[in-house]
Amino acid sequence: ARRENEKLRRLNEVACGFYQQMLLQKSVGGAAQQYLNTRGYGQKMAQAFQLGYAPDRWDALLTHLREKGLDIDPARRLGLVRPGKQGRGDYDLFRGRLIFPIFDHYGQVVAFGGRILSGDGAKYINSPESPIYHKSRVLYGLYRAKEAMRRSDMAIVVEGYFDVLAMHRAGITQAVATCGTALTLDHARLLKRYAQKLVLLFDQDQAGQTAALRAMEVALPEGLEVQIVNLAPGEDPDSFLAGAGREAFDNCLTRARPVLEWYMDRLLVAGSGVSEQARGVDEILQRIGLLPGEIERSLYLKQLAGRTGLAEDLLQRKLGELQRSRP
Ligand code: CTP
Ligand code: MN
Ligand code: MN
Ligand code: MN
Ligand code: MN
Repeated sequence: ARRENEKLRRLNEVACGFYQQMLLQKSVGGAAQQYLNTRGYGQKMAQAFQLGYAPDRWDALLTHLREKGLDIDPARRLGLVRPGKQGRGDYDLFRGRLIFPIFDHYGQVVAFGGRILSGDGAKYINSPESPIYHKSRVLYGLYRAKEAMRRSDMAIVVEGYFDVLAMHRAGITQAVATCGTALTLDHARLLKRYAQKLVLLFDQDQAGQTAALRAMEVALPEGLEVQIVNLAPGEDPDSFLAGAGREAFDNCLTRARPVLEWYMDRLLVAGSGVSEQARGVDEILQRIGLLPGEIERSLYLKQLAGRTGLAEDLLQRKLGELQRSRP
């Protein structure tokens, strides 16, 4: 199996190099270069992240592999090449897309994401899972972010490829992306190797808020110090940096808040009815119960008591009940 995986990794290396070359060739990758430039990313960023372009043909990668005399089978197992239906030939997965190679934390290419440049079709497609790519264990950009994470003791989690690029371009290099999936327990544990503080910086839409709630529940029990940053509605880090600029962005970052305080704000809405309030308190207690530290739990209970006017020992008792009923 180890030798098999080595083959898969080598094939990904070859594909990565091919896509990179295609981006650099003006006659092939000109439109993709133009696209990057329009979004404010030049040669330097493309090179740093080894961005590429998959030509708009059915067999560009296939032909390249054949010309190099390489076995197609690993490409099939990686999903880069797919078998045609009913005896038709194989064809490339990525066609006419800007390519983001996805590296694991050792710096090996394990998968790719591809963005459409224009027209209809899925905005992004990604390599399927394979023996060397488990998306629940990989964070985009980690290989380039881990040193800065160690230095600052802080990891910033964003949603997308371009958000990582935008943060790096702005000199904020602790950023990694979940790439549309929820933050998993494996992700949280991986990040904990590098930093104690986890900053959630998701898209300011419904999906991003839901992702933040889930991430909070995954990360708090791990003892990570979880904070959340909010940008203007509808924005993501890439769009906000491009539109509002660095200074506005820094202002948002400095207003990062402990995720539990943000959560309390959401649930303790002024003027809501008694049963709604009671439900909110219950939800909050459940999240406080996720904290591994007794002192921290106690401090948040105090805060919750202050904000609701409920007695601290009542809240304490309720929390105890919750924890006993859910071992
Ligand atoms: N994603 C995906 N497939 C999709 C849509 C999204 O895999 N059809 C993943 C990508 O990794 C994407 C991330 O989810 O980067 C966040 O999605 P979204 O916010 O929709 O895209 P952006 O990253 O903001 O992309 P862009 O700025 O290019 O529109
Ligand atoms: Mn490479
Ligand atoms: Mn989004
Ligand atoms: Mn986005
Ligand atoms: Mn975006």
